[in-house]
Amino acid sequence: MKRLPDEIIDVICIDPPYLYLKNQKLERPFDEHKFFSECRRLLTKNGFIVMFGRGESFYRWNTILSDLKFTFKEEIIWNKSHCTSPLMNLSRVHETISIFCKGKAGINKVKVPYLEMKSNDIDSIIGDVKRLKGILKNTKSLDSVLDFLESRKRNDFKANKTMDNKSSLRTGKCNEGDRCVTVVNSLVNGYNEKSIIQYQKTNTFTKHSATININSSGDTDRCVKVINSISKGLNEKTIIKQVRDHYSAIHPTQKPVRLLERLLALVIPESKPREEIVVADFFGGSMSCMEAVHNMEMKGIACEIDQEYFEKGKERINKLQPLQPELFR
Ligand SMILES: C[S@@+](CC[C@H](N)C(=O)[O-])C[C@H]1O[C@@H](n2cnc3c(N)ncnc32)[C@H](O)[C@@H]1O
Repeated sequence: MKRLPDEIIDVICIDPPYLYLKNQKLERPFDEHKFFSECRRLLTKNGFIVMFGRGESFYRWNTILSDLKFTFKEEIIWNKSHCTSPLMNLSRVHETISIFCKGKAGINKVKVPYLEMKSNDIDSIIGDVKRLKGILKNTKSLDSVLDFLESRKRNDFKANKTMDNKSSLRTGKCNEGDRCVTVVNSLVNGYNEKSIIQYQKTNTFTKHSATININSSGDTDRCVKVINSISKGLNEKTIIKQVRDHYSAIHPTQKPVRLLERLLALVIPESKPREEIVVADFFGGSMSCMEAVHNMEMKGIACEIDQEYFEKGKERINKLQPLQPELFR
């Protein structure tokens, strides 16, 4: 960091060690005050920090940033949809991310494609199509969409049941042994309570569709919103559901590239050409952030302290064409 000149970085996106595991190579304490002061020096006037974290260290870092006169902008929850700590009593299925700005800039309004935002939640999509059916006159095309979705839902359900019967444990074809044991246990014994509690009213839509009134302006507005969301996407939300995109991970805490793209989209300066925007990650790990930066056609700077992760991360970045981010160890 010392080698870099003042105010050259637009976004610092970091996932520092959470510092709650003892004697692990991932968890090396660092001079926190010095680190965040350096971040302040390196950021442009309206530069942002996007910071992953958990527990005590995370709250301490948030306070340091506040003391350094950064402006708190938002807290984002990453809904991982799977549990990364099966041994804990409360299954942890989320990570927390803070967004701070050095100046007064705001978070960008970002649209996420409809299907991505719905995360293949077939029930929710069926709900939207039914809503549209309630307001449109000729619904033949929607009927066929609905038929398709409902048969898909039935097939998914059947496929899941077949999976139960042919448990990969019994056929001995399980590559991810631990994961399969967890799946089988959850089918038999239920799930541990999770750190994100989702409450879903059953049959919500059936009730709603029974009372839908074509002339009511509330329903019309709702349908316009559905049509707009399908064609233009939906606003990004403070809870981002993003599944793992890396099944042969380089790093134990590797983050999905698409999650990082969605986070960066919220804070990159929209007035600057992409190729002039600089994003830095000082705890690079597997270099997921640099892959996101590359995909978004921006410039990147990254560091990783550990030789093994540095080499693997470098190999990953070297495979991306054309090469852009600069890596330091
Ligand atoms: C949580 S991981 C980052 C994972 C990364 N986001 C990814 O997607 O692969 C934190 C990284 O910081 C590195 N690290 C740990 N302590 C450090 C320290 N004191 N200074 C610099 N880097 C450190 C670790 O080697 C580890 O790779």
